[in-house]
Amino acid sequence: MQFTVAIDGPAAAGKGTIARGVADAFGFVHLDTGLLYRAVGRRTLEGTPATIAASTLRIRDLSRTDLRTPDVAEAASKAAAMPEVREALLSFQRDFASRDGGAVLDGRDIGTVICPNADVKLFVTASPEIRAHRRWLELTQAGLDITEAQVLENVLGRDTRDRDRADAPLKPAEDAIQFDTSEVNIEEALAKATGIVRRRLDQKA
Ligand code: DC
Repeated sequence: MQFTVAIDGPAAAGKGTIARGVADAFGFVHLDTGLLYRAVGRRTLEGTPATIAASTLRIRDLSRTDLRTPDVAEAASKAAAMPEVREALLSFQRDFASRDGGAVLDGRDIGTVICPNADVKLFVTASPEIRAHRRWLELTQAGLDITEAQVLENVLGRDTRDRDRADAPLKPAEDAIQFDTSEVNIEEALAKATGIVRRRLDQKA
């Protein structure tokens, strides 16, 4: 059985938590596509041109433990604006999405470009302040010395770059169901997402 769930949205809106939760609930595989761009961004910070980093990316690059920092996120967002980089990462994502048994992919362009025929498309948002606060908590809990204002600046800068780029900009697919997680807690958002996926699976059965 092929079944694809596409989850898009800006940085720190809760996509990852919802994606992992949906994958766990249904036994689907999950790909955080931001990690591909972060792995490329990490290598650009080490001096490798983005196009080379993208075309030589290896699975083990995705498990590097140094991909979650704001400077890597920034470098990822810059590399992600390059069409050659996106092109180099396309087939890996599409192959992953068509794996037998169901797949959840989260990112910025999953419902619009990578999987335009996904069975379920969700677009997850929250206010910039709430997203920055959540990301600041994660980063400081991981030991990073950073202020909430610096995280907000990073999040806003990435949002603008990710939305304004010409190739595969961050935007909801026309048939995406929009979720605002500013007011609801993540458990409620996950329960809603799981319900949507269950109904679609039942329709397909
Ligand atoms: O999801 P994330 O914050 O880890 O993503 C890091 C950057 O990668 C993000 O600012 C934009 C880019 N990205 C993208 O352009 N397309 C995707 N599908 C996923 C991430």
